Amino acid sequence: MTRANIELGNVTPHNIKQLKKLNSVVFPVSYNDKFYKDVLEAGELAKLAYYNDIVVGAVCCRIDTSEKSRRLYIMTLGCLYPYRRLGIGTLMVQHVLNYVEQDGNFDSIFLHVQVNNEGAIDFYKKFGFEIVETRPLYYKRIEPAHAHVLQKTIRNKGQPNGSVE
Ligand SMILES: CC(C)(COP(=O)(O)OP(=O)(O)OC[C@H]1O[C@@H](n2cnc3c(N)ncnc32)[C@H](O)[C@@H]1OP(=O)(O)O)[C@@H](O)C(=O)NCCC(=O)NCCS
Repeated sequence: MTRANIELGNVTPHNIKQLKKLNSVVFPVSYNDKFYKDVLEAGELAKLAYYNDIVVGAVCCRIDTSEKSRRLYIMTLGCLYPYRRLGIGTLMVQHVLNYVEQDGNFDSIFLHVQVNNEGAIDFYKKFGFEIVETRPLYYKRIEPAHAHVLQKTIRNKGQPNGSVE
């Protein structure tokens, strides 16, 4: 048997319906037309994940400049249930980490997860994310409504590793 081919591809007007379908299956929250309009303009910040040419996952991020810092916010990152634990989530997070590293100007990466989403919390901890805050009643129509904020601080750029006097 040959190994499965797992790769990322762009989100385009041609395949955006697949992204909408995937997100509706993977997440308990629904996303509005503005979300998908922005995703189409997001370039490398939005990707579909393919398993042997079938869409099975997606990641959508945006740049957040509130709170006096420049942060990458992971809005959605998910994979269809039968395709989990095959490294597809890892491929998507690695893409985000590469993006942030190449940009060189982010302070951190963050996202929200439902407090009971232990699988996702374990997953993100593997990549150096930590729970930095818990937001009570963050979600409106789902239970539990509380969210953890998971954050990965990016090594301070612009600061030399060692200074020569
Ligand atoms: C979280 C999620 C994206 C992980 O995707 P995935 O493709 O299964 O992740 P990977 O196969 O790359 O997992 C990498 C490692 O993360 C850890 N991990 C992943 N899922 C885990 C789980 N359910 N429980 C414990 N550890 C987990 C494991 O260490 C795993 O390595 P291993 O399989 O060799 O043990 C996926 O479970 C998912 O789509 N969940 C629903 C959506 C969601 O909650 N997204 C998070 C908020 S944006």
